[in-house]
Amino acid sequence: MQPPTQHIEGQKRRAAEAALRQVRSGMVLGLGTGSTVAHLLDHLGSALAARTLTDIVGVATSLQTERRAKELGIPLVGLAERERIDLTIDGADEISDALDLIKGGGGALLREKMVAQASDRVLIIADAKKRVARLGSTFALPIEVVRWGWEAHVRFLAEWGGRAALRTHADGAPATTDNGLYVLDCRFSEGIEDAPALEDALAHRAGVVETGLFLGLAHEALVATDHGVDVLLRPL
Ligand code: A5P
Repeated sequence: MQPPTQHIEGQKRRAAEAALRQVRSGMVLGLGTGSTVAHLLDHLGSALAARTLTDIVGVATSLQTERRAKELGIPLVGLAERERIDLTIDGADEISDALDLIKGGGGALLREKMVAQASDRVLIIADAKKRVARLGSTFALPIEVVRWGWEAHVRFLAEWGGRAALRTHADGAPATTDNGLYVLDCRFSEGIEDAPALEDALAHRAGVVETGLFLGLAHEALVATDHGVDVLLRPL
């Protein structure tokens, strides 16, 4: 038997390989962030080097993805340089049956959501552990906030049944995003009861810049299991 991390890594790689089969030459591609997307970037870089795919440009959702794409020779453009993105491929921290997501474990939620909203199609790639019956049941909800007065959101989230904590580095210093902002990670012991209502409340709250709730944004998810890759489509 494989050690668990190797086993999960194999699932991530297989999901990424399946996603690459949806990429066509000439596409503008949104490039997500995280360890699953890292596999996609490797495969995409190899396909471009072998010229089995040509004329691709990517829009990176984080500085981490930007750096890796450059190392692999994947051409990049900024979000403003293209009117639409043909296809965005990204990971997720949780995926519900309705294909709603929690994202932002890697802190890239704001740029990921901007790129997803500019995309004709959003394809999610993940290992089997990411599927949940209810959002927030296994993973804390990341919320990107301005630094000033962040403590006020902790109290606000408590009214919604959440326990929010400032994301920090190992030395206790606050972690900052690529946008220079803080992230609160909010745990819900029973999961999030009404994700659209919470999203709406946070969207109207000054100082909250973005949430990791991606509701109605994903079109398809490729979830690798031990037996193959499950294709999930957003219910109509
Ligand atoms: C980055 O901020 C996140 O939204 C990632 O897409 C998400 O955390 C999935 O990451 P992994 O592929 O590393 O699990």
